[in-house]
Amino acid sequence: MNKNAGQHNLVSGFSKKTKAEKIAWVSEHFANPKAATALLDTYTHPDTNIQNLHDEFIENAVANFYLPLGVAPNVVINGKTLTLPMAIEESSVVAAAANAAKFWASRGGFSAEILGIEKVGQVHFIFEGSTHKLHAFFDTHKADLLQATEAITKNMRARGGGITALTLEDKTHLIEDYFQLDVSFDTQDSMGANFINSCLEQLAKSLRELALLYNDFSAQEKEIEVVMSILSNHVPNCLVKAAVSCPVETLLDSPKDSQLFAEKFVQAVRIAEVEPYRAVTHNKGIMNGIDAVVIASGNDFRAVAAGVHAYAAISGQYRSLSKAEIKDGVFHFSLTLPLAIGTVGGLTKLHPLVRWCHELMGFPNAEELMKIVAVAGLSQNFAAIKSLVTSGIQQGHMKMHLLNILNQLGATASEKKALISHFIKHTVSHHAVVEALEKLRAE
Ligand code: MEV
Repeated sequence: MNKNAGQHNLVSGFSKKTKAEKIAWVSEHFANPKAATALLDTYTHPDTNIQNLHDEFIENAVANFYLPLGVAPNVVINGKTLTLPMAIEESSVVAAAANAAKFWASRGGFSAEILGIEKVGQVHFIFEGSTHKLHAFFDTHKADLLQATEAITKNMRARGGGITALTLEDKTHLIEDYFQLDVSFDTQDSMGANFINSCLEQLAKSLRELALLYNDFSAQEKEIEVVMSILSNHVPNCLVKAAVSCPVETLLDSPKDSQLFAEKFVQAVRIAEVEPYRAVTHNKGIMNGIDAVVIASGNDFRAVAAGVHAYAAISGQYRSLSKAEIKDGVFHFSLTLPLAIGTVGGLTKLHPLVRWCHELMGFPNAEELMKIVAVAGLSQNFAAIKSLVTSGIQQGHMKMHLLNILNQLGATASEKKALISHFIKHTVSHHAVVEALEKLRAE
C-alpha cells in the first residue's frame, strides 16, 4: 500500500459544501474518482424525498449504507404470533431466529414480562463546603427544582410519565467535593433521551441559580460548579424478561437425547455464568438478535449495548444474561436484560423502512417492543447453544458462509447451485471453495 494512501489534506468549511461538492471532494482521493462517485450514486435512493430525509439524519451524508433487512416469522410471544424485522449483516442470525421461533412455537411459544421501566440521569456537580448545609439546601429547594422543569415535563406528564424521583447523592468518597442530582424518569413510549437531557439541564441551571440566592451558604458554597448533565445508559431498573419452558422429554425426538441435550444446555449456560471469556461470546450471541431488531426498530443500538453489558457486569464480574435450569422434569430458559427503547420519537416515525418494521410488528408500544427484542435475544441464544452442544456452530454458519464466499468469487447462479450441493458432503473452507469452483469451471 502507498504510504500516503488514506492521507488527506485538511479541509475547511467542509460541512458548508453542497452534497455534490462533498462527493466530488471525497472522490478525488480515490484511484478512480469517477468510479468512486458512481458507486455512491448507486447507493443513493431514486426517490429524492426519501433521500433528502436520509441526508438530514446526519451531517456530511454522501450515500446510504445498506444492511440486509430479514424477517423471522412464527415468533409466538405471550400467545400472539409475530414476524420480526431484523437488520443485520451476519449470515446465520435470521435463520437462527426463524428456527428457534418455529421450535418454540410448537412448545407454547415465548413468554415475556416487563420488570421495570425506570430511566435515569444525573447532574454531576462540585460543591465545596458543608455537606450538611447542602442537604438542607436540597430539602428546602427540592420542590422548586421540580417546579422549574414543569414546562418541559408537561406533555410527558399528560401521557402518564415524567420525573418520578429526585435525590441528592454524596459521591465525595469517589472524588473530592463531588455530588449528584440523581433523577429517575418514566418516559412512556419514547426512549426519552432528549426529554431527560432537557430536564437535567434545567435542573442544573436552577440548582446554580437557587444556590446563589441561598442565604445559609457562604460565598464559596453559593458557587456550585456543574460539570455536566446527562442521562445514563446504565438502566438496571428498565428491565424485561423473556422465557421459554417445556418438559425435558419433548425437547428433541427421543427422550434420551432430550435429557442429555437439556443437561448439556444447562451446563453451557452455567459456564457462561461463571467464566467471563465464555460469557462475553454468549452475550454477543444474544446481542445478535437484540441489535438486529433494535436497529430495525430505529432505536439506538449503542445505548442498548452499553446498558446491556453494564448490566451483565453488575455483580462485579461479567456474566451470562440468560439462565437455564431443569426443575421437576421441566426445562426452563430465560433472559433478563435492560432495554431503554422507544416507539415514538427519534427515527421511529421518520424513517420509512423503520415505520414499515413497526407496522410489521403491529405498532407495538415501548413495553411491547422491549418484550419483542428480549425474545429475539433469547431465541438467538437458544439457537447458538443448541448448535454448540450438538452439531457445533460451524455447520450452520458455514452453509451461509459458503454463499458469501461464492458471491465474493463471482460464482454464477448455476455454479452456486452445483457447489451448494457439493458442500453438503464436504467441509467448507475458503480454500476448498476456491478449489471446487476452479475444478467446476475446468470441467
Ligand atoms: C456468533 O455471532 C455468536 C455465537 O458465537 C454465540 C455463542 O457462542 O453463544 C455463536
